[in-house]
Amino acid sequence: SWTPAHFVEETVASLREQVGEDRVLLGLSGGVDSSVAAMLLHQAIGDRLFCFFIDNGLLRHNEFNEVLVSYAGMGLNVTGIDARQEFYSALAGLTDPEAKRKAIGKTFIDVFDREARQLTNIKYLAQGTIYPDVIESVSVHGPSVTIKSHHNVGGLPAKMGLKIVEPLRFLFKDEVRRVGTELGMPDRLIKRHPFPGPGLAIRILGDITPEKVALLQKADAIYIDKLREAGLYDQVWQAGTILLPVQSVGVMGDERTYEQAVALRAVTSTDGMTAEWSHLPYDFLASVSSSIINNVKGINRVVYDISTKPPATIEWE
Ligand code: XMP
Repeated sequence: SWTPAHFVEETVASLREQVGEDRVLLGLSGGVDSSVAAMLLHQAIGDRLFCFFIDNGLLRHNEFNEVLVSYAGMGLNVTGIDARQEFYSALAGLTDPEAKRKAIGKTFIDVFDREARQLTNIKYLAQGTIYPDVIESVSVHGPSVTIKSHHNVGGLPAKMGLKIVEPLRFLFKDEVRRVGTELGMPDRLIKRHPFPGPGLAIRILGDITPEKVALLQKADAIYIDKLREAGLYDQVWQAGTILLPVQSVGVMGDERTYEQAVALRAVTSTDGMTAEWSHLPYDFLASVSSSIINNVKGINRVVYDISTKPPATIEWE
């Protein structure tokens, strides 16, 4: 029967055999899948694994630095790449969700390819593709085809002339997490909620500006920190904050405000294909709402998304 220990042993052996003395490049996303894939390869081939972690300016508050530190702590040979301005330029003025995804995917490939040219003798591109990604990318409905393709760097291997390594191709998410634990990875990384490749760009409805990103990051950090403090983080599959393109009236002291609204989203799910909105306690929601409104200048209203997937989706774009 399947055990994480067996899986690690067999996979490390077969990776060694497959890769031989060659060098492998892997794009880390900060998420569980790419991190576990990296650790397996690191066990197999050590510093012949080269990792990139790109800051696209669409990550959560502080996430780039926090995650880089934890990667270094796990012994990975990782280069952090600050490409924020390049992504913001590519996104400027775009409002259509698919246009945003395309711009982000293309910029990702440009940055990745350019950086990879600094390295010599890379033969393989490793990806954290898991089994549901494989299924989703052959399913018929439109957007999901794009979903995983650019997340897992889509046309990149062909463009760079690299062979692909996908050590997690037959695993489900819970198995990936068990493998991560087996490899001694920190809980905080293993239990991370899924986070979309296009990041906060698909949680800001309308066009993207660095100012909107900063606003959303502040509100989102309050929500996520409070989920952790309340012990609720591990009970939801995924949570996030959405910046709505509406302003509404409020009062602050004697003043009338006219500011933006955010929506809080939290869902329970097993694979992200279907999802139920999480029945978070009212007291908890009340405390998140007042903390956001009192601490994030520019936001005067907080709403909670009570939609199920289907027919709604987890993300708003
Ligand atoms: P939806 O919104 O389709 O999301 O219910 C299902 C899961 O997929 C993630 N998602 C994405 N992941 N690139 C990604 O890498 C994307 O373009 C993308 N769109 C949605 C979403 O966060 C959820 O986990």
